[in-house]
Amino acid sequence: MNEILQVEEFKTLEITLFEKIVNLMYLRYQEIFKPLPPYPKEKIRKMLSSPGYVEEKSYYWFKLNNGTPVAYCHLLHMLKGDNMKLFWIKAYTHPEHRRKGHFKELLKETVPKIPEYAKTLMVRTFSTKNSDENSKKNLTENSTETAYVYYTDFERYLLSQGYKMTITDRSSGADLTEFRIQDIKQKVTELKGLAEQKGFKFVFVENYRFEEQPEIDYQDYLKALESIWNDMPRDEASWEDETLTKEKHQEFFKLGSLIGTFPWTFVALHVKTGNVAGITETWLDKFQPEIAEQDDTGVIREFRGNRLGLTLKYLMLEKLLTDPRSSEVKFWVTNNAFSNSHMLAINDELKYRFLQRINTFEMHKSGFVSYLGQS
Ligand SMILES: CC(C)(COP(=O)(O)OP(=O)(O)OC[C@H]1O[C@@H](n2cnc3c(N)ncnc32)[C@H](O)[C@@H]1OP(=O)(O)O)[C@@H](O)C(=O)NCCC(=O)NCCS
Repeated sequence: MNEILQVEEFKTLEITLFEKIVNLMYLRYQEIFKPLPPYPKEKIRKMLSSPGYVEEKSYYWFKLNNGTPVAYCHLLHMLKGDNMKLFWIKAYTHPEHRRKGHFKELLKETVPKIPEYAKTLMVRTFSTKNSDENSKKNLTENSTETAYVYYTDFERYLLSQGYKMTITDRSSGADLTEFRIQDIKQKVTELKGLAEQKGFKFVFVENYRFEEQPEIDYQDYLKALESIWNDMPRDEASWEDETLTKEKHQEFFKLGSLIGTFPWTFVALHVKTGNVAGITETWLDKFQPEIAEQDDTGVIREFRGNRLGLTLKYLMLEKLLTDPRSSEVKFWVTNNAFSNSHMLAINDELKYRFLQRINTFEMHKSGFVSYLGQS
């Protein structure tokens, strides 16, 4: 028997069903993270049980086949804060149950839950292929030019239905076993020395404990991070500037620790003014110690051109290679817009290799509703 189950709170579910849901999500991560390993099941359990950000609201729908979930759809929208006009849908159908209409049936469930103010649907697709074999261009896997060249069948389907492709990200990873620690230490000494001569210094912060680093003005740090976010390329994607409050920043840490992750941050300071000049942040993962996730890196506009971005990343690399707490890390992974050529150049120098291409598609709500035949 087929039925659709709506879930807002996973805690209320009976354990056998909860575990079946964890298994389906595990399959999804296996498929979309390839060639990296999926999230371990314990991490998925924690993610589902986590309360979520106060500014966001999530709904899940599962298609049950004789009591076993075979497809799901996740709707996320904002309750307050920035980007209220956007809403996100993630979906997954078990490979043996595809092309039977589950995805489309589940999408129809989302419509009544999308608030009036949310107007633009965002959907992401993943592919481990980056270039089209038929393309005349002779491009390497890592090439930044290959974006937009290749579409999967499903992506072509989305385009044919009126979805607009807005931005392509490159997911990439550096294999830490490829580095010789002596080389990295030497490079760090060289780059740090140059930056110091130009009037900068570097401070390490663990778990966002900024109170332990009086040299860093936390409010200035938040302002710097906010400007770095808002300065990243968006290509044709619709998201707007975001505001970063202390509460929101602390929430990243709180929710991160609930799912077993904790952040390491290097901050570049301009000595003369005490201002934050640049930031880089990597998250370690208790449930997946072989993977460290490189998050934001950025340099404030007025301080660009001093190789601070590269220096910050080399400092993080040295830390990952030498701290006993990161001794199990094998892959240092990250996501960047293909159009972010400066960041990609730094990552290429740090031996990041292409893993996946992630496309973001958008559709106006009215188009989405008529696509579902619900005009
Ligand atoms: C994308 C995915 C969710 C589709 O699920 P599904 O249950 O097979 O989809 P449906 O059977 O409901 O098909 C819906 C429509 O998509 C089309 N479609 C689905 N997969 C397709 C494919 N690989 N190529 C071309 N069209 C496809 C169907 O023809 C159908 O078209 P219609 O409008 O004429 O009815 C599933 O393939 C999947 O889980 N992929 C991996 C995760 C992923 O990429 N998710 C992306 C969305 S977040």
